[in-house]
Amino acid sequence: TRPVKIAPSLLAADFARLGEEVAAIDAAGADWLHLDIMDGHFVPNISYGPAVLKALRGRTRMPFDVHLMIAPVDAFLPAFAEAGADRISLHAEAGPHLHRSLQSIRALGRSPGVVLNPATPAAVVAPVLDMVELILVMTVNPGFGGQSFIHSQLPKIAELRRMIDATGREIALEVDGGVTAETAPLCIEAGADVLVAGTAVFGKPDYAAAIAALRGGLA
Ligand code: DX5
Ligand code: ZN
Repeated sequence: TRPVKIAPSLLAADFARLGEEVAAIDAAGADWLHLDIMDGHFVPNISYGPAVLKALRGRTRMPFDVHLMIAPVDAFLPAFAEAGADRISLHAEAGPHLHRSLQSIRALGRSPGVVLNPATPAAVVAPVLDMVELILVMTVNPGFGGQSFIHSQLPKIAELRRMIDATGREIALEVDGGVTAETAPLCIEAGADVLVAGTAVFGKPDYAAAIAALRGGLA
């Protein structure tokens, strides 16, 4: 079995103490920091922007895994690259020019990823499989933390696992939304290798125990 990475979502952190929260999950063994960028247009919520990434970049060596929920997105890509994003992922539903946006992320020297909403089929990524280093499957409708895991996405995760394996390329398969110690094993079983978790990490008193529980280990 492949080692699973845990990417805590900063959306569930204490926004009055962001620097300390980032240092705490780093010390607790998190692999990546997941940053949810919401524009109040593509999704019905507003989170934070590149200035927050820039302020936090010096607080950790964890890769910044940036999930853009923005439409139109292209004009914002350079700002997130400059602010310290390592991986930049955007929604297949965010506009008609997914291929161009992925090219732009590559041209900025960052790692491109594509995100699929629950109602979007796996086949949408087939024409861009050669361009991405990450595929993110939403297991909630994007916009808010703390929602319930949508189980009907599990066959899609398995289908994407098969598509990725057939390429022979290194493409991370990430799952985001409602991931808990109960649903994490289902995602891993279906073939996910990166798990995003907001509430299931920041909502717990012991971050190291919460991260270990998501990996399937003991606290
Ligand atoms: C939802 C975001 C998620 C969210 C996950 O739009 O993409 O990353 O923070 O939160 P939980 O883990 O609480 O479902
Ligand atoms: Zn996210």
